[in-house]
Amino acid sequence: MAVGIFDSGLGGLTVLDAVTRRLPEVPFVYYGDNAHAPYGVRDADDIYNLTIAGVERLFAAGCDLVILACNTASAAALRRMQENWVPRDKRVLGVFVPLIEALTERHWGDNSPPREVAVKHVALFATPATVASRAFQRELAFRAIGVDVEAQACGGVVDAIEEGDMILAEALVRSHVDALRRKMPRPDAAVLGCTHYPLMEKVFQDALGPDVTVFSQANLVAESLAFYLGRRPEMIGPGTEPAFLTTGNPGRVSDRATQFLRRRIEFVSA
Ligand code: DGL
Repeated sequence: MAVGIFDSGLGGLTVLDAVTRRLPEVPFVYYGDNAHAPYGVRDADDIYNLTIAGVERLFAAGCDLVILACNTASAAALRRMQENWVPRDKRVLGVFVPLIEALTERHWGDNSPPREVAVKHVALFATPATVASRAFQRELAFRAIGVDVEAQACGGVVDAIEEGDMILAEALVRSHVDALRRKMPRPDAAVLGCTHYPLMEKVFQDALGPDVTVFSQANLVAESLAFYLGRRPEMIGPGTEPAFLTTGNPGRVSDRATQFLRRRIEFVSA
């Protein structure tokens, strides 16, 4: 009865927290590839191979459904995995689509033609690999017309969060928001397109100002997973125990995770 949650490191914990609150009866197995984070500065092949290794480990832990709680892996590897690699009886889903559906005022699975939506100027904050993939703009173009997107690659923020250096992370977020504003002075919405960034959501909102609506993924992904499992309950795999797996140092990763989620989290070696 387990569902897998994959991330390059600690960022997916923002999604884990939301899905655990939304679906308390489902055991989740979390995999953080902390030894190889950040993914955002890696090339697409590298991200593909690392993501496959993590997802395989989650399949072995009894998960038939794995959520890539990582935009970088969702943008750079998911489509290739679904086309060439995911076994028939397993599912791997990403975190992009729920966010874009919310932004474009759509319900799950609404594949009607693109149309005009309320937001017109969207600021996208994401890792360099996610920005380079243009996956966000592609998914958006399937659903909306007339939306101007300005993307800001937020180099350094994930490293700082993984290192627990929140002062550096805050300074970097403020400078990336300044850089974005030089390209798009008045965004009406901002997308936090990396699952690490909700840990800095207050700083993003403060730097952007109260007129900008900030879209963050965790709750949107939780709603979408609840809807999916309602339709496909058989995709809850045979695993019964929640677990936290890491490729990094379990003691160090546990301490950081505990600090972020404000409850004791014990990681073990993947
Ligand atoms: N949290 C991830 C994302 O959503 C990965 C960041 C990284 O490893 O660079 O993009």
